[in-house]
Amino acid sequence: TIKAVIFDLDGVLTDTAHYHFQAWQALAHELGISFTEQDNEQLKGVDRLGSLRWILQQAQRQLSPEEETRLMQQKNAHYLELIAHMSPADLFAGVQPLFTELRQHGIKIGLASASKNAAMVVERLGIANQFDYIADANDVVNSKPDPEVFLLAATGLGVATTHCIGVEDAVAGVEAINAAGMTAIGIGEPSVLNRAIKVYPSIQKLKLTDLLKL
Ligand code: G6P
Ligand code: MG
Repeated sequence: TIKAVIFDLDGVLTDTAHYHFQAWQALAHELGISFTEQDNEQLKGVDRLGSLRWILQQAQRQLSPEEETRLMQQKNAHYLELIAHMSPADLFAGVQPLFTELRQHGIKIGLASASKNAAMVVERLGIANQFDYIADANDVVNSKPDPEVFLLAATGLGVATTHCIGVEDAVAGVEAINAAGMTAIGIGEPSVLNRAIKVYPSIQKLKLTDLLKL
């Protein structure tokens, strides 16, 4: 039986995945490194430093810690500009009805995000107070695909991992959910998220009745 659903943020509850992509692409191009939407699939769910290093590695580049810090700050400043206008209108359709239904069934709602900006984004979306527990990049050492952030969310919710469902748009995120011993639902392309038990094109298509059947 399901006792909790733990959601990823970027790309699952709102379209910030696209803003992360835009900001990483701008940085990569400035460094003379190509970065496509397909490359970005590898970076979804990966933390800030891991993402920067992945991009640098494409060009066999390595930088000093100081230089890495500067570039991460630059990317984040650009990302913050891109999301400056975010409001409750940016919550993906279907999220609020799903949250309401989960609450009515006594199923807990958690967040497991690899982003250090997660708290601010859920605040902007107007849903911060609807989570029973929020785990984000500020609380963990190991980034997805490591299960740490999902395990922390389950502990915070007080629910055994076998009673948790995780919802993710990232390959690394689906791996993290599986590694945590939870059931993984994907949002996106079935061919990309092939380790998820079920994949929906958007969160709007994910219905509580489907979850209850798992
Ligand atoms: C999420 C996104 C990634 C992003 C990462 C770090 O996992 O899917 O695209 O790079 O968070 O976000 P941050 O806001 O901490 O730079
Ligand atoms: Mg995501």
